[in-house]
Amino acid sequence: MHSAADSDPELQAILARPGYVDLHSHYIPAVDDGVHTRQEGVELCRGLSGIGFGAIVATPHMRTAMFDNERIELQAHFARFQAACGRDEGMPALGLAAEHFCDDVFWARFERGQVLPYPGERAALIELPVDAIPLGLEERVFRMNLKGVRPVLAHPERYAPLYSRTGAIERLLQQGVLPLLDVMSLEGKYGRRPRKAAERMLAEGVYYAACSDAHKPSDVARVAEGIARLRKRVGEAEAEAMLDERPRRILRGEVDR
Ligand SMILES: [Fe+2]
Repeated sequence: MHSAADSDPELQAILARPGYVDLHSHYIPAVDDGVHTRQEGVELCRGLSGIGFGAIVATPHMRTAMFDNERIELQAHFARFQAACGRDEGMPALGLAAEHFCDDVFWARFERGQVLPYPGERAALIELPVDAIPLGLEERVFRMNLKGVRPVLAHPERYAPLYSRTGAIERLLQQGVLPLLDVMSLEGKYGRRPRKAAERMLAEGVYYAACSDAHKPSDVARVAEGIARLRKRVGEAEAEAMLDERPRRILRGEVDR
């Protein structure tokens, strides 16, 4: 099926590259808690390229009162970064989306079309508070589905209600929300409980795909270790699918779940 999204040049550039596709990273300088300078951004992108990522979508935080990023500003920041270094040797294909914190501001923006879905606009990355799954999330997800934007859930293993069991997101999973593993959780970056939760959710088959969620160049070694642990846990073929085939399916709107 073809739509306007198929001719999106950013999406096409990403899909044309071989290698892993990272759907969650913070390489745009000075817009959130990711890299501080353009040089660090380039270093992070090159580092991820060096461990197998052919394409990286930046997902700066959009979170009220913490990272007050507007769509139009982030697009300008991304365009500047892309123009300055996106075509340098060793750089992966770049794309822009956002990591949307699920508060009322986000939902109002979503209804007005002022959020930043993934290139192609068939899915968007959402983040929840660490201590509670928000009430009424099912209705919000229903609205996203209605608009044809598949919700991708950032690092479920890092939310306290999911540390020991997955039940709190069971309904969301039935609604088609796609959990995205942060591979650094397996490496232990966030501590023991998120690591254990990630291991359990992998065994349960909860995750659809995996990402780096890298915030700085020094994260690259941890991402590499996380990928090595992912391979050990789920096997080569499933790890490859989580990092390569399925992120592409999300972007193309061809999710098989
Ligand atoms: Fe993130």
